[in-house]
Amino acid sequence: MKKCHITFQLNGMTTEVLVNPNQTLVRMLREDLGLTGTKYGCGEGDCGSCTVLLDGEPVNSCLVLAAQVDGHRVTTIEGVADGDNLHSLQASFIEKGAIQCGFCTPGMILSAKALLEKQPDPSELEVRTAISGNLCRCTGYQKIVEAIMSTGKSAGECSSSNEEKCQGEG
Ligand code: FES
Ligand code: FES
Repeated sequence: MKKCHITFQLNGMTTEVLVNPNQTLVRMLREDLGLTGTKYGCGEGDCGSCTVLLDGEPVNSCLVLAAQVDGHRVTTIEGVADGDNLHSLQASFIEKGAIQCGFCTPGMILSAKALLEKQPDPSELEVRTAISGNLCRCTGYQKIVEAIMSTGKSAGECSSSNEEKCQGEG
């Protein structure tokens, strides 16, 4: 099978990969690039454990072909922290006890990150809607919702949309 050469931004780095035309994004991330933070659950778009951001929007990477990200921007859980400094969402998940086995956590964090970049102070309904495609078999969701809401309220997100405001506030 003839491979496709793709170039895309992966966690802020220009990345070039040769992929099979039928290879999914999750398989490329995990198997070719070694980014195993993106989890593989159902493989059918039902569980959300494979969620990554594609141009800032959450997608199920088991349903996206690797070749489709050519020229686009992909963020995985490995690109969320700033070096050794956890993202405020990651810190909040730990603080609120929103992680048990952790299998759903990368996808949850990325869905939440996308929400907070659009809506820095979301309602509970907005949070529950944003993570409605991410299944958790362990926590009962309440602590996850609390972690996301407290991140929005206390820390705010210095996203591109409100970076000026954050900087202005010192
Ligand atoms: S593995 Fe992609 S949605 Fe379940
Ligand atoms: S913490 Fe186990 S699936 Fe969510």
